[in-house]
Amino acid sequence: MADLILTGASRGIGHALALALAERREDRLVLVARDQARLDALVTAVEQKGGHAIAVPGDLSSLAEARALGQRLSETVTPGATLIHNAGLWPSKRALTPEGLETAFVVNHLAPLVMQRALIDAGRVRRIMVVSAGLIVKGHFDAALTPTGGDFSSIRTYCNTKLCFALAMRDVAAAHPELDVVILHPGVVRTGLGARSGPMGWLLSLVKRGWEAPEDCAARLARILARERWSPPGEARWLLEENEQPWPAVAEDERTRRAVRDTTAQLLASA
Ligand SMILES: NC(=O)c1ccc[n+]([C@@H]2O[C@H](COP(=O)([O-])OP(=O)(O)OC[C@H]3O[C@@H](n4cnc5c(N)ncnc54)[C@H](OP(=O)(O)O)[C@@H]3O)[C@@H](O)[C@H]2O)c1
Repeated sequence: MADLILTGASRGIGHALALALAERREDRLVLVARDQARLDALVTAVEQKGGHAIAVPGDLSSLAEARALGQRLSETVTPGATLIHNAGLWPSKRALTPEGLETAFVVNHLAPLVMQRALIDAGRVRRIMVVSAGLIVKGHFDAALTPTGGDFSSIRTYCNTKLCFALAMRDVAAAHPELDVVILHPGVVRTGLGARSGPMGWLLSLVKRGWEAPEDCAARLARILARERWSPPGEARWLLEENEQPWPAVAEDERTRRAVRDTTAQLLASA
């Protein structure tokens, strides 16, 4: 039985994906999020469908927590695992983590890198899927401002932090040709991502009514997971939904790539 680690499993796309994969009895789902009660209920739901699952709660809004989570996961899973980085945050306001970094920069970019380090070092993972966002095309990275949210804006920060992680994972794919890495836009999906209170929240929930159901997105991700291979060794391919596309210009820009690489290495040196 192969392990499949799924972050952001408690809600939205991740929750629907866990249920969609429940019938693949050859896999054990390792479900990660902060909300233990929702994870426990999901384990029960997966088992009721005949699948196998365990809950490994963890918080990606602190680098120390992310490191501890990666350690717990590497002690739990067996070699050959698939890792799906799906947890994500669309922040409504600037907030800092215990390390003094902007929270979405940590949850969407730095923490998943820290979390996966123990798994890669211990040779536990074979494939990594990144649930990214088409909005990376609007991303911009300013080494002096983005890490601490000095350039914070709800929409821009989401785009910037998703771009940073996509670029970092391209580097991980290059450094680890033994891994099969894919980075994708999952679709425009009716979930609680970026939910707001007040009139803006009400408006957003009206707009979202026309968006795709998480179950349809999950079925698409399950089809991609069933593919034998995603990318050539040493590369990460970019998919818009199920279709491979050239990397957007912003993800090919060498100055941006270098800035993200250098800043990330510096910030993670002591993490
Ligand atoms: N929905 C869309 O249209 C859309 C479009 C493009 C890309 N995406 C991407 O798809 C992924 C899933 O989004 P979604 O729409 O399903 O969002 P969602 O419904 O808000 O779910 C987000 C998931 O991330 C987890 N998470 C958030 N903060 C966390 C933290 N600090 N530590 C650990 N886990 C945390 C949440 O679990 P807990 O709260 O229990 O921790 C939850 O399970 C995200 O990466 C998002 O950027 C979504």
